[in-house]
Amino acid sequence: MSEIILKSIKKSYTETPAVWGLDLHIEEGQFLTILGPSGCGKTTTLRLIAGLEDPDEGEIIIGDRILFSREKGIYVPPEKRQLGLIFQSYALWPHMTVAKNISLGLEEKRLPKDEIERRVSQVLQQVQLSEYRDRYPSELSGGQQQRVAVARMIAAEPIIILMDEPLSNLDAMLRVDMRAELKHLHHDLSATTVYVTHDQVEAMTLSDKIAVMMEGELRQLGTPREIYSKPADLFVARFVGSPRINIIEGRIVSETDADYFHAETLRKPVGSGLDFGVGQVIATIRPEDIHVSKTERRGWLEVLVYSVLPTGAETIVTIQKETLSLAIKLGGFTDIEMNDAIWVDFDAAKMNYYDPKTEKLLRSV
Ligand SMILES: Nc1ncnc2c1ncn2[C@@H]1O[C@H](COP(=O)(O)OP(=O)(O)OP(=O)(O)O)[C@@H](O)[C@H]1O
Ligand SMILES: [Mg+2]
Repeated sequence: MSEIILKSIKKSYTETPAVWGLDLHIEEGQFLTILGPSGCGKTTTLRLIAGLEDPDEGEIIIGDRILFSREKGIYVPPEKRQLGLIFQSYALWPHMTVAKNISLGLEEKRLPKDEIERRVSQVLQQVQLSEYRDRYPSELSGGQQQRVAVARMIAAEPIIILMDEPLSNLDAMLRVDMRAELKHLHHDLSATTVYVTHDQVEAMTLSDKIAVMMEGELRQLGTPREIYSKPADLFVARFVGSPRINIIEGRIVSETDADYFHAETLRKPVGSGLDFGVGQVIATIRPEDIHVSKTERRGWLEVLVYSVLPTGAETIVTIQKETLSLAIKLGGFTDIEMNDAIWVDFDAAKMNYYDPKTEKLLRSV
């Protein structure tokens, strides 16, 4: 059993808490990513699980073992937690070969020689570096060095893997390749993994579950799909997705047949099952959920194209209408041009509504 349970964890270095009342349940074999901006408490959370820091309050449980409990006076040191750690600076020994970098930790554990050899060969194969075993780190690319660090970690056969921004030292192309490798590796090993990043694409692509943190607090825990399509608050909504989610201030008006969202001349039914009264709300819509037409259509909103930004696979069209400014994502190239008048329509089913005061998602009743 290697599920991880964090119960009411608090940790402060200064007056402002680094982690505040964190409850988290990471299921066995799950890949959970802690996502959030710089300083939100991601590394602190990982160090608490690893035992490199002690919480001020709370409990940390892995499987059926309590690793830390202030109340019960339990503290298991890091080396007894059976964890594999990879941090941003993965520090390989420069004067040792790839094989030696991997076997060193196993030799320190006094494993038999043939067992060490078996594991070194196996992990090198897993990260596809078998031919590089006698090279030195300086003779490898950044991505290969990173893979050696991964190999070294999995050679110890940890039951839990903790990774703190392990790809941030790599260039953009390599980062994308390494994502696929990490995902494949997790599939092979099925070790419970906690991964820390501020990169929302990394979080979306790799994870079974994402925990979004802000200022030491958990804002939302959910699958990538839930985080993307039903952000719990406007912070999460803005933090995930590129280009950013569109935010539209407006109001709910109750009409004879149904409730409608009004903003400028736009009027959209809020959908069945939604009933959160009338008044000011903030609506959101993802850039790919806005439809466009070059000709006038009844009920659609006429807007002016502000910019057209093709990247090849997609084009971002930004538009303006009085106070409204929106980004729209279209597939491939488009013949829409700057300063064109176009008509847009929102996919009503994809819109979410937020309380303007609390910025929390208004849920259907
Ligand atoms: N050893 C420390 N002493 C004092 N304050 C600390 C210490 N470590 C972290 N902090 C503070 O705790 C808060 C959370 O830090 P943490 O390193 O967990 O953030 P993070 O989410 O990992 O950020 P980043 O994305 O920049 O790595 C920050 O405000 C940080 O300044
Ligand atoms: Mg950090």
